[in-house]
Amino acid sequence: MSDAMSRIYLDFNASTPLAPQVRAAMAQMLEEPYGNPSSSHWAGTPARQAVEGARAKVARLLGCKQSEVVFTSGGSEANNHALKGVFFAAGRRGAHIITTQVEHPAIINPCRFLEKLGASVTYLPVDGYGCVDPDDVRKALRPESVLVSVMHANNEVGTIQPISEISRHLRGTGILLHTDAAQSVGKIESQVETLGVDLLSVAGHKLYGPKGVGALYVREGVFLEPLIHGAGHESGRRAGTENVLLNAALGVACEVAAKWIGMEPVRILRDY
Ligand SMILES: Cc1ncc(COP(=O)(O)O)c(C=O)c1O
Repeated sequence: MSDAMSRIYLDFNASTPLAPQVRAAMAQMLEEPYGNPSSSHWAGTPARQAVEGARAKVARLLGCKQSEVVFTSGGSEANNHALKGVFFAAGRRGAHIITTQVEHPAIINPCRFLEKLGASVTYLPVDGYGCVDPDDVRKALRPESVLVSVMHANNEVGTIQPISEISRHLRGTGILLHTDAAQSVGKIESQVETLGVDLLSVAGHKLYGPKGVGALYVREGVFLEPLIHGAGHESGRRAGTENVLLNAALGVACEVAAKWIGMEPVRILRDY
């Protein structure tokens, strides 16, 4: 038996292999739409349909409107867009962001960067299980608070944070709630209305899609300053000709995930 054959890959929090359906869809996409999705002629139409079809599939998994999904280059960009987009849209130094000490570097480091630009950031501690107390979030709120960002599932220890309880504390305050759901979407229930979030990050390569693609859910009516300015792609929220191949692949990954039987068999296997 070769060395590679004797190995068992268990690091699915780092990255998952492609689902067979995603691989097949990508192979097909490489042969098909080559037009620019923004072109109004015959060559652009199938590319546009591929991107919008994929957006609908992501939206279905998240339980949101198609127009509320922005494609990104992955979870890191989605997180950066959420944090910097809210800060720049707030347009003031001293804007206050609340997060936790156990976030992925794709949250912690944009927060550190925003502190250099005048943001004030509270990094809340967690308990022995890695869980943040929703009451600590409530106590940390200030008149200058603009955003709370708490991850949904932790990438190191798997703790599921009480996002919907945090959401209840923010109701009526005008403070936005973001969750980095890179590790949860496609694995556990991550519908935006159940969680009560305004912004949610998805990373394609954690749910059997390819690396280098993700999405940010942006609740209708929430304005974020774009990270990439340019032409009006993604409804003006992220400039650049759409990555038709990877967006389509993420759509298929979300479609497959929506039909998945859930974590229970995994939990039984783990406990065994
Ligand atoms: C919780 C969490 N957030 C964000 C990311 C970054 O996602 P990406 O690799 O797609 O940029 C990861 C990936 O490791 C992650 O686990």
